[in-house]
Amino acid sequence: MEACRRRFGEAFSVQFLGFATPMVMVSEPEAIRALYSIREHGLPPGRSIALLPVLGPRSVLLLEGPEHMARRRLMLPPFHGERMRAYEATVRELAEREIASWPVDRAFAAHPRMQALTLEVIMRAVFGVTDAQRRERLRVLLRGLLDGGSSARLQFQVLLARRFGRRGPLTMLHELGVEIDELLLAEIAERRADPAAAERDDILTLLLAARFEDGSAMSDRELRDQLMTLLVAGHETTATALAWTIDLLARHPATLARLTAEVGRDEDRYLRAVIAESLRLRPVVPLAGRRLASELRVDGLALPAGTDVTPAIWLTHTRVDLYPEPYAFRPERFLERPPTTYGWIPFGGGIRRCLGAAFAEMEMRIVLDAIVRLRDLRAAGRRAERVTRRNVTFSPRDGTLIAALARNH
Ligand code: HEM
Repeated sequence: MEACRRRFGEAFSVQFLGFATPMVMVSEPEAIRALYSIREHGLPPGRSIALLPVLGPRSVLLLEGPEHMARRRLMLPPFHGERMRAYEATVRELAEREIASWPVDRAFAAHPRMQALTLEVIMRAVFGVTDAQRRERLRVLLRGLLDGGSSARLQFQVLLARRFGRRGPLTMLHELGVEIDELLLAEIAERRADPAAAERDDILTLLLAARFEDGSAMSDRELRDQLMTLLVAGHETTATALAWTIDLLARHPATLARLTAEVGRDEDRYLRAVIAESLRLRPVVPLAGRRLASELRVDGLALPAGTDVTPAIWLTHTRVDLYPEPYAFRPERFLERPPTTYGWIPFGGGIRRCLGAAFAEMEMRIVLDAIVRLRDLRAAGRRAERVTRRNVTFSPRDGTLIAALARNH
């Protein structure tokens, strides 16, 4: 992308393997505003190809037009920023338990630890599974599904299978999914019958009580699709964002020292800036595109309806006109000026902006707060992490090797 920016300038198009039409990449905030403010734009085909078999046909991440808006309206209130306090205690408890299990005498990879933690958070706060045995079974099955579905090689095999009509690897993942569905549907049925449901605050319970504008509720199959959507959209992304932040902090001791001194003070102003800066410099999801419903003018070009266009998130985040010294990890920049709507887009934008953004930021804040209070981080890998692609995320290639020494209070 850097090379394309140098060679072609603000906007350019990329032809991805297996896709019929190219994707136009833009990075200028005005172009992104123009793209994200038109509600009628649809989704490029990539999202469905990668995710439909796992998420299901009613997923809020995949539906379009009025069907998408109806789900979005129903699902937004449970994810509203103010509500996130309800989950802080659960996240803190799980984070502290995870950190307590870290080795103290040797280096280890932090990314898999963060994956385990964010999976646990989803099972508790979103699914609300209280039965320990069911959680254990789900944990094993979901890990299998998520690991199996994340490799670039698998996506290549899917493309080949689509092209040559063979039984694809997704069929195998589907079989794993059948057992997961059984467990989720059992959970949904029990929750519907639970007389104490009014006292629960997990997201599934809230979705069970929510109604569409015509007064109807989500069906069990639809609830299953939304639960899988929240899992897939919310688990690997948050774990990866945490792993990148840990890598950056471990390699910037002065920033880590300031963060350690300031956690819990001033409404966590510095911690929030650290998270914003980490999501700027290491955006986890690189693209969040639209298929144009009407012409879009960018950089002196008129792109016709039907064109696929995406912000190149990393190119936006490294624009020198928005961010002086764009490659430096400098949270202070966000103390001076908060992130702007179309110049800072780790969660996409417009009517498809990440539904779980407030949840992710809360989770990151609580986990990082616990880490810096309990452990002294050191980088253990020889160089800063490089990027590898896992499904739709950009991930640390070597799993974020760190040493974490116990802090003496
Ligand atoms: C740091 C963590 C996360 C990142 C970087 C991230 C990023 C994104 C991005 C880029 C999109 C696409 C937005 C667009 O097309 O404009 C998205 C959509 C979505 N995310 Fe997240 N996400 C994160 C965490 C979460 C969490 C924790 C949840 C829920 C538990 C979640 C649920 C969703 C859903 C449901 C959508 C679909 C929204 C729609 O199409 O209307 N995400 N996310």
